[in-house]
Amino acid sequence: MKKLLSVFILGFVLLTLILPQPVLAEEALNGSKIFSNFCAACHINGNNVVVANKTLKKGALLQYLKGYEEDAQAAIVNQVTNGKNAMPAFKNRLTAEEIKTVADYVATQAEKGWLSSPSQTEGLKLDRENSR
Ligand code: HEC
Repeated sequence: MKKLLSVFILGFVLLTLILPQPVLAEEALNGSKIFSNFCAACHINGNNVVVANKTLKKGALLQYLKGYEEDAQAAIVNQVTNGKNAMPAFKNRLTAEEIKTVADYVATQAEKGWLSSPSQTEGLKLDRENSR
């Protein structure tokens, strides 16, 4: 009986240890991580390795991205969802929620001038941790 009880307690402890994890994993799927997984190949540090002048910096966005001044997030969501020229559409690869999250990240980085690249390294670090 005592043994049965300790099995129950052990089970309970294990459950409480295991259950919170899906929530944490979801949180880790933040804008910077989506960016490093899906965007950084062409837009490392907010640049553009394909069409050099079409960067994700504020000046370029204001100049090239339709509707950016009125609603930055919506304009980026539109570009990411549907793609444009050499940039692929992401509507079949990311959920609407993920596209909104990464658009928020890009808009915030554009405002900050992409100076705080630690978020980039953080995304890469998370990748490494996940692939362990
Ligand atoms: C295969 C390379 C590639 C990938 C991956 C890519 N892009 Fe792009 N992106 C481009 C190219 C090329 C352009 C310029 C398109 C054009 O001709 O207007 C662009 C333009 C943009 C622009 C408008 C910038 C401007 O100055 O006009 C935004 C915003 C953008 N990308 C966001 C993203 C986000 C967010 C992701 C990830 C979800 C992403 N891109 C993934 C190639 C890419």
